[in-house]
Amino acid sequence: MSRKIFIAGNWKMNTTLEEAVDLAKSVVQECKNRGDVEVAVCPPYVSLSAVAQVIKGSGVKLGAQDVHWEVSGAFTGKVSVAMLKSVGCEYVIIGHSEQRQYFGETDETVNKKVKAALAGGLKPIICVGELLSERENGFTEKVVEKQIVGAYKDLSKEDALKTVIAYEPVWAIGTGKTATPEQAEEVHLFIRKELEKLYDSDLSSKIIIQYGGSMNPKNAKELLAKENVDGGLIGGASLKGDQFKGVVIPQ
Ligand code: PGA
Repeated sequence: MSRKIFIAGNWKMNTTLEEAVDLAKSVVQECKNRGDVEVAVCPPYVSLSAVAQVIKGSGVKLGAQDVHWEVSGAFTGKVSVAMLKSVGCEYVIIGHSEQRQYFGETDETVNKKVKAALAGGLKPIICVGELLSERENGFTEKVVEKQIVGAYKDLSKEDALKTVIAYEPVWAIGTGKTATPEQAEEVHLFIRKELEKLYDSDLSSKIIIQYGGSMNPKNAKELLAKENVDGGLIGGASLKGDQFKGVVIPQ
């Protein structure tokens, strides 16, 4: 089964407007028109519009880092699917471990956001992954299973086919500790089997599963060589154009 490699940069709470425009220019310069690889950048909300202008026509796609599930109304500080669509987003990251850890994200809110995103025409990048203590106690599969089942609750196959999953072991995020290619492959394969249980083998063979957690130009090639690792969600290494290129085109 050939799945297209998908590399997305998660800029997190980094870059002012000016810095975001410069970084987007650099990403376009380094990664434009890579027909064989899907490339996306996910800047902070305030820079989405400006970055959309920079990447126009380059093939690089735009994503947001979160979204609210309501359509509109009195939800101070929140941003809707329609707002993200209106500035040119195609993707949205949902359920990132930092959202789960610091901002009360639960499997239930992930599910609401996934449904809202799909209803409004955005493709969710659904993040799952275990804490270090969970891995050490042998709960990795249990945790990931619960997150997957929660995220896909009541989702039709047609909708589920539009999603992307990012497996991000929390202990590997921003720590410089990467999962070994074998550790990543093991969980990716487990996720694929879960999807097969929830839907069928047709769907599970088509869903893109990115790896995330200290992925960089040095380890990208080995990770991407694994059969079930279809790309990466890149934090730290997405903040410099040449580093990001090193993941998009690993040597
Ligand atoms: P990292 O972050 O590459 O800096 O570890 C990845 C992520 O949190 O998406």
